[in-house]
Amino acid sequence: MTTQLIDGFGRVHRDLRISVTDRCNFRCTYCMPQEGMQWQRREDLLSFEEIERVAQILVERFGVNAIRLTGGEPTVRAKLSILVAKLAALNVDLAMTTNGVTLPLLANELRAAGLTRINISLDSLRADRFEQLTRRNELPRVLEGVDAALDAGFSPVKVNVVVMKGVNDDEIVDFARFGRDRGVVVRFIEFMPLDADEIWSNDQVMTQTEILKSLSGEFDLVPLERTSAPATRWRYADGLGEIGIVASVSQSFCESCDRVRITADGQFRNCLFATEETDVRALLRNGASDDDIAEALQRSVSSKWAGHSINQVHFIRPHRSMSEIGG
Ligand code: GTP
Ligand code: 5AD
Ligand code: SF4
Repeated sequence: MTTQLIDGFGRVHRDLRISVTDRCNFRCTYCMPQEGMQWQRREDLLSFEEIERVAQILVERFGVNAIRLTGGEPTVRAKLSILVAKLAALNVDLAMTTNGVTLPLLANELRAAGLTRINISLDSLRADRFEQLTRRNELPRVLEGVDAALDAGFSPVKVNVVVMKGVNDDEIVDFARFGRDRGVVVRFIEFMPLDADEIWSNDQVMTQTEILKSLSGEFDLVPLERTSAPATRWRYADGLGEIGIVASVSQSFCESCDRVRITADGQFRNCLFATEETDVRALLRNGASDDDIAEALQRSVSSKWAGHSINQVHFIRPHRSMSEIGG
């Protein structure tokens, strides 16, 4: 019998995000420090068997029904498709968020192992700007990656665009056209204060209202019903697909949050912005029973706060950057 992973505000948690590595083959300016990144040691990362055990507890005891693999860049983890096959056996909605650069090589293998959905991070369609943002000259390969994901049968394929004022806000309409042409769902994301170099400021956030304004001159959009997922969605009135906006900063969706996270080094986080973690790796490695682990996870969720407080004086940045938490 399953019990629910429920917090003090009555929110039931069914969505697990697992970071499988803190490493990345890109160096996105908003995600990772430009200098001095200390990678976690191999032995500090959870093994595939350890990840499978925690996931199994969450699925079988608490009814978690969606798992997303994140990083760093998840495909940097060797033999990722072996983990995918283990998690696919749990019968959940199994997805991954990736920078896309290795998809030309890996898309078919991951699909065959049981991954069903892919989100690809891509913040500029202009080669020079792409290189400035990622410190890698890989736009063509990421675009090939988008096609490879579609060809491998992933459905839907989503493209995540973190929109930053004065950086890439002039590409909103280009991205919308790109999505319509390629048959992918483009999601515009408000820039959140999780960048490693702490360059975030409120002035750089392109809000949902501003994003919609940029689109409304070109396209007729019809709102779609909201789910517990972070993105608010619209469809094109002419039927050529849909877009999403993740408005974490201007319109927090914390009241419907159903997410928990585990970092590559085995720390359980009850919020993206959590300032405290539960050391599941220590439990796994010190002979804890499944009951002990389940109890620790439940305890963490019970103590979850109502939501982040970006823009309020008492907001505290988590000590980890996006690349370590996995978004
Ligand atoms: P779908 O299941 O396809 O809707 O994926 P997703 O949008 O939940 O995941 P993805 O990894 O593509 O993340 C898109 C954006 O949403 C990223 O900027 C994430 O950091 C952000 N995001 C994901 N989950 C949360 C969350 O629980 N809280 C907040 N504030 N942002 C989140
Ligand atoms: N704010 C919003 N989204 C971010 N991402 C990375 N850093 C940030 C940030 N500071 C996005 C990535 C990826 C997803 C997991 O999170 O682009 O698509
Ligand atoms: Fe959930 Fe925290 Fe994200 Fe709010 S900020 S939606 S509480 S993970």
